[in-house]
Amino acid sequence: GIEASVVPIATLGGPPTRTGRLHASHKGSYGDVAVVGGAPGMPGAAVLAAQAALHAGAGRVYFAPLDADASRLVAGLPELMWRGPRLLPLQDLTIACGCGGGEAIGEVLETVVREARALVLDADALNLLAQRADGRELVLARGERPTVLTPHPLEAARLLGVATTEVQADRLRSARQLAGQFGCTVVLKGSGTVVAAPGRTPCINPTGNARLATGGTGDVLAGLLAARLAQGMPAFDAACAAVHEHGAVADQWPAHESFTAGGLARRLRA
Ligand code: APR
Ligand code: MG
Repeated sequence: GIEASVVPIATLGGPPTRTGRLHASHKGSYGDVAVVGGAPGMPGAAVLAAQAALHAGAGRVYFAPLDADASRLVAGLPELMWRGPRLLPLQDLTIACGCGGGEAIGEVLETVVREARALVLDADALNLLAQRADGRELVLARGERPTVLTPHPLEAARLLGVATTEVQADRLRSARQLAGQFGCTVVLKGSGTVVAAPGRTPCINPTGNARLATGGTGDVLAGLLAARLAQGMPAFDAACAAVHEHGAVADQWPAHESFTAGGLARRLRA
């Protein structure tokens, strides 16, 4: 008989290309992110997160603004796909939720927490979580699904029910406590960002500087982290990678160039 010859073809298991992306891959290989946020007064937060997810190499980015105001700001981002929050295929998506969410986030938070494949909760999603956790109304019962909370110190203080000074007095302990309380990965932001998760030794991020102390950089981190989760990294690893990259870009920023959150998002790479 005639034996079939073996033709070497590039497969998903093949070697990565120069960009770190596999040769025979397609946009479905790099995951879908949806940004839910951008309420009145803060549409830019959601736009920044979406822009960061795009530049960080997510396969597709859905944009679910909670206020129509956001539409004025996304003219420069034709890659985004618009969906109402209720029309998102949540079970297939990594959701970055909160990004300028305001109170409107309350209408979708429960559904998102219940259904998202992977989840990043930031800003007002965290504030809402803090309120509802008090009233025991909202439980983060996410099981094994990747889940990351990204509080800054004030948001962390609300979640723990203590003063911000207490959070900052022992940042490692605060991050570990939150990780235990919510049973998921926690990124306690600020100079020396701490990443903690149940059963893991916490990490302190060595990159980043005070350039990052400007509005919107936290939203960029949420989008970047969502992209890494969408690409299939486990939650703790994705959080460590994202905070490291986010800080490293700020550290390598050209001295003659002004620093903005939008510029930071544009400088992210897959
Ligand atoms: N050194 C290193 N990193 C820093 C520093 C610093 N001195 N200052 C800030 N950062 C980093 C943080 O670690 C974090 O990644 O910049 C980011 C700031 O994130 P946020 O504190 O969330 O700030 P921002 O994105 O501007 O969001 C502000 O979001 O939390 C809501 O409603 C809240 O109005 C607020 C808005
Ligand atoms: Mg923030």
